[in-house]
Amino acid sequence: MARIAIVGGGGYVGLTYGAALAELGNDVTGLDTDSAKVFALSTGESPIFEPGLDDLLRRNLTNGRLRFTTDYADAIPDADFAFICVGTPPDSSGRADTRYIAAAAQAIGQHGRGHTIVVNKSTMPVGSVERVAEILREHAQADATFSVVANPEFLREGSALSDVFHPDRIVLGSTDSAAVEKVAELYASLNAPLLITDPRSAEMIKYASNSFLAAKISFINEVAMICEALQCDISAVSGGMGLDPRIGSRFLQAGVGFGGSCFPKDVRALASLAADAGMSTSMLDAVLDINKAMRQQVVDKLASHLGDVSGRTVALLGLAFKPDTDDIRESPAVEIAKQLSAQGAVVRATDPAALSRVASEMPETSLCEDAYAAAVGADAVVLTTEWRDYLSLDFERLANAMAGRFLLDGRNVLDPLEVTRAGLTYAGVGRSIPSVRIEHHQPVTAEASAVSLAAD
Ligand code: UGA
Repeated sequence: MARIAIVGGGGYVGLTYGAALAELGNDVTGLDTDSAKVFALSTGESPIFEPGLDDLLRRNLTNGRLRFTTDYADAIPDADFAFICVGTPPDSSGRADTRYIAAAAQAIGQHGRGHTIVVNKSTMPVGSVERVAEILREHAQADATFSVVANPEFLREGSALSDVFHPDRIVLGSTDSAAVEKVAELYASLNAPLLITDPRSAEMIKYASNSFLAAKISFINEVAMICEALQCDISAVSGGMGLDPRIGSRFLQAGVGFGGSCFPKDVRALASLAADAGMSTSMLDAVLDINKAMRQQVVDKLASHLGDVSGRTVALLGLAFKPDTDDIRESPAVEIAKQLSAQGAVVRATDPAALSRVASEMPETSLCEDAYAAAVGADAVVLTTEWRDYLSLDFERLANAMAGRFLLDGRNVLDPLEVTRAGLTYAGVGRSIPSVRIEHHQPVTAEASAVSLAAD
């Protein structure tokens, strides 16, 4: 059992890792400067919506392996490990703002006793292990020593717990092999592939991974636009591409583009790191440009279908940046709603989880209980987030509530034929109504073909 302090313990990454490390048998203290959050967490109230997290939090509070505090002097001196899980929001230039990391390192330096292994878990600019080590040294007490290990996280919101307990890889970057071994032990029971690198490469792995996935999405979105011009169907095209294991089928879903607190921020931050090194990044820049264009094409399609969006009523289904989260940061839906409102459209919107988050941010949008309520009087409905609730809608009921007939499937998840059967006009992103049904057969094995030949 290790004693672990999590700095930023009330945040998304900190809370998920804190609860998970406690579940794995460690003694964990979550440290957060927000006293209201610490109070809520201590009584089992999670400030974030993440499937399974509430149960994990309550179980580990009850069994005494997890607790929360606002006080560094309470959490750090006894800790074997101090995880830094604070935010690195973008500054006005797109660079990662590292002031919370610096503050965390300073406080750990002041309060560390004996030897503490500092684990850089937040997404941090390349060079942060060295920078954190320097700050720790500047503020260390005479009897305190520190090791610093980069250990980037790869959690997806909505499936964060499954990602923590079943990771594809654990990446550890440090020049201190004894510290690396100790951090690796924390994850030993997860049986995940372990990659040990120098600190800078470990930090780069995180930026490069997120940027690659974002590039995959922008690539398929650009191909979707070309498909639209050439009357191909992007769902068939990405299905065919994804069968090649070198390409892989994941992150090939065309639509309104990527959002959230990670991809947009990390692509921008990587481009800024390159710019600071005197380099240009035409590919990363294109990834962001295409992503922006995907929101605009929703507004353009509505304008071309409705004549003009001004004075028209548009219903948006889904406001979270993706399903199974209430997170609206850089959400395509929120940006589309704002653009439509700015152009004089009346916007109605719904979401199964995020309504309370958007109320203050989108005062001009009418927030509705569900898809059918949002569709009342709408000239067009746009599916902006592919929540499960929206995959099995009663399209006749939806059509009856609407004033117009246009349904724009911004995530390409609906069956165009089913939508058109309800009397609606369907449009997707790079989709055409297929003249041939897409069929995907499993391979015919030698045995099966022998049986069928014998039967013939
Ligand atoms: C992302 C990464 O997937 C995680 O590995 C990483 O740890 C995390 O960022 C982070 O840096 O902390 P997340 O932002 O939770 O996770 O969400 P994703 O599931 O990756 O989706 C990001 C965006 O891409 C969403 O808006 C989603 O709708 C969009 N997307 C995803 C597509 O438009 N098409 C796809 O095919 C896949």
